Amino acid sequence: MTLVLGIVGHPLDHSLSVPMHMSAIFTLGIDYVYMSFDILPENLSHAVTQFRKEHIKGFNVTIPYKEDIMPYLDSIDEYAGKIGAVNTVNNENGRLKGYNTDGIGYVKSLGEQTGFDPRGKQVLMIGAGGAAKAVAFSLLEAGADKIIIANRTPERAEALHRHLCVYFPATSSQSIRLQDMNALDHKKINLVINTTSIGMKGAGDIDMDLTGFRSDTVVSDIVYNPLETPFLKRAKHAGLKTHDGAGMLVYQGAESFKLWTGVQPPVDIMRQAVLRALQEHH
Ligand code: ATR
Repeated sequence: MTLVLGIVGHPLDHSLSVPMHMSAIFTLGIDYVYMSFDILPENLSHAVTQFRKEHIKGFNVTIPYKEDIMPYLDSIDEYAGKIGAVNTVNNENGRLKGYNTDGIGYVKSLGEQTGFDPRGKQVLMIGAGGAAKAVAFSLLEAGADKIIIANRTPERAEALHRHLCVYFPATSSQSIRLQDMNALDHKKINLVINTTSIGMKGAGDIDMDLTGFRSDTVVSDIVYNPLETPFLKRAKHAGLKTHDGAGMLVYQGAESFKLWTGVQPPVDIMRQAVLRALQEHH
């Protein structure tokens, strides 16, 4: 019997996750299908009940349901519970368990694509939303020494800083205002990451001077449309290493795929499928 996987979100037109996971399924020749479930907020609870009844094997959860889905699940993995968001649900003997693969996917793709090892490193993270939380957690878990959080709304950066202090009391984090980024000592920063939507569809740019960094500093963007955001373009011109947003998308997907199927999917093929879909629809 074909096992059903999918993605739950709203709106969900042309989700990149569908071609990405289907490319892995076709390549491996396994009996699965990955579908898009565009669900209105008022139908979320009913949809989860229905998924359980229909024995759906697993699904991804995306905007705006990464937190809203949690009360409807039977259990939450410890790590996802700490982050406070779920992007993957796995059906384990009829019980739905929530996981979060965003952060670990990010750290893995960063390592694979740039060779960056977070251990002992100092990170400047722009943004303090859901994606930022998962990324910060995983970087600290992987041994990062310090995370400086810069956000438009300072209260949110401060809240994330306090949240991180609870789980990582030995490491330091700090919150600053966006306009104070240029006053930091750039020489001490090993990784700069944009977790906001600035630069999406090529609109806007991070208001940050990219001079004064060490040449091995990595500039990373979780925006994948376009793959080369204005921020990454400037970083490249400044001679810095760059890491694009397709990396996190592919590796979080690969981690979810492993949870559902027990099989390591072909990440190169998944990345190619994402790039093709981006060219076609986005
Ligand atoms: P996600 O779950 O995708 O991270 P989110 O929780 O809504 O989405 O967070 C979006 C992040 O992008 C926030 O840090 C937000 O800043 P605020 O907390 O001040 O809202 C940031 N962001 C979005 N658009 C922005 C813009 N035009 N300028 C600066 N920051 C922006």
